[in-house]
Amino acid sequence: SGKLWGGRFVGAVDPIMEKFNASIAYDRHLWEVDVQGSKAYSRGLEKAGLLTKAEMDQILHGLDKVAEEWAQGTFKLNPNDEDIHTANERRLKVVTDLRLWMRQNCSALSALLRELIRTMVDRAEAERDILFPGYTHLQRAQPIRWSHWILSHAVALTRDSERLLEVQKRINVLPLGSGAIAGNPLGVDRELLRAELNFGAVTLNSMDATSERDFVAEFLFWASLCMTHLSRMAEDLILYGTKEFNFVQLSDAYSTGSSLMPQKKNPDSLELIRSKAGRVFGRCAGLLMTLKGLPSTYNKDLQEDKEAVFEVSDTMSAVLQVATGVISTLQVRRENMAQALSPDMLATDLAYYLVRKGMPFRQAHEASGKAVFMAETKGVALNQLSLQELQNISPLFSGDVSQVWDYSHSVEQYTALGGTARSSVDWQIAQVRALLRAQQA
Ligand SMILES: *[C@@H]1O[C@H](CO)[C@@H](O)[C@H](O)[C@H]1NC(C)=O
Ligand SMILES: *[C@@H]1O[C@H](CO)[C@@H](O)[C@H](O)[C@H]1NC(C)=O
Repeated sequence: SGKLWGGRFVGAVDPIMEKFNASIAYDRHLWEVDVQGSKAYSRGLEKAGLLTKAEMDQILHGLDKVAEEWAQGTFKLNPNDEDIHTANERRLKVVTDLRLWMRQNCSALSALLRELIRTMVDRAEAERDILFPGYTHLQRAQPIRWSHWILSHAVALTRDSERLLEVQKRINVLPLGSGAIAGNPLGVDRELLRAELNFGAVTLNSMDATSERDFVAEFLFWASLCMTHLSRMAEDLILYGTKEFNFVQLSDAYSTGSSLMPQKKNPDSLELIRSKAGRVFGRCAGLLMTLKGLPSTYNKDLQEDKEAVFEVSDTMSAVLQVATGVISTLQVRRENMAQALSPDMLATDLAYYLVRKGMPFRQAHEASGKAVFMAETKGVALNQLSLQELQNISPLFSGDVSQVWDYSHSVEQYTALGGTARSSVDWQIAQVRALLRAQQA
């Protein structure tokens, strides 16, 4: 037909391109907030004298009908409705809907995160007297309270909870009335729109407002870091649940049997939490790559923001609820935890004993090291060395050294704020609870 190259791309729209271009498939999440935004905008237009009261009422009524149809699942999408805004009303070019949607979803995510932290703190409080080995480099290090371990992860999550509240502040800014680039020429009262939609502030610059996606990037980063914390906790629990450690047992609701090996119970829930961290981080990196190098104001690239937000919100909702379920149903094997404590883990305490008797720590560390070596050479446990043998290492050892070999006594030494002594663990619990109360307000 005289076309020199790829004829089907000339003239009519390529159906593949049409599909490629359309965002309606995932935009449909936004129907409710889109109607909300459109109603506020109609009120703004009426206030500006651009619509009569009767016209506004008609539009509001029409939008209510649209909302009803969406809610009942009877709204008919036209294949030519490329995005939710043309689907609901043929206008709106900015990101108000996404911000409205994220505002709701982030509040719900915040509540789920606080619920998880509360569950962890309740558990920490109930199980304060269980001791088990603390690890560094995955080697037995020092005895700690099981609660101290739980709180170490809960405290990381309190930072995520705080961070999400910060991000919510920057989501809660109204871009409506920015137009495509230059602003609104019709005297729309943006303050009124802000109040109508209950936003915290209005965006300051129309060019910035149409294309900035900082609030999306921040949300995705929030999710990535929160997932990193949850993934690390999951990894600890996976290890603690192996036969080698045998400290905890996952409830059946959160594990799966092996199709081949009947003796196995796999921690699928925890492995999935660990794996989702990668997916969420991928979305964060992906969006940053999309933003990098974009020229000023709106470009179609920005359409990528929504899929990332919806997928990550979905993942975070599920992960936070599964994590809460795992923690609240976990069984703790306190005897196995106690049995895993060994006297060599008290070598540091032995050094502290000498420090209390006046020896500089460096020397005390060396003396304790000699005791460890002596015990190893003799093939006995560190606490089996006689007082005479210890006194050969340092004359500062006396009968009261026997106190060192008590694990409860060991943890109770760490009374400084943040340590593993009971008083300090109680303090941590009170602090986290206070934070949760403040964040809920
Ligand atoms: C792509 O979608 C936009 C609306 O989001 C629409 O205005 C435009 O015509 C579409 N382009 C093609 C090639 O389908
Ligand atoms: C947030 O949105 C996602 C995606 O639509 C949804 O699956 C999830 O349930 C929402 N989260 C909450 C806590 O409402």
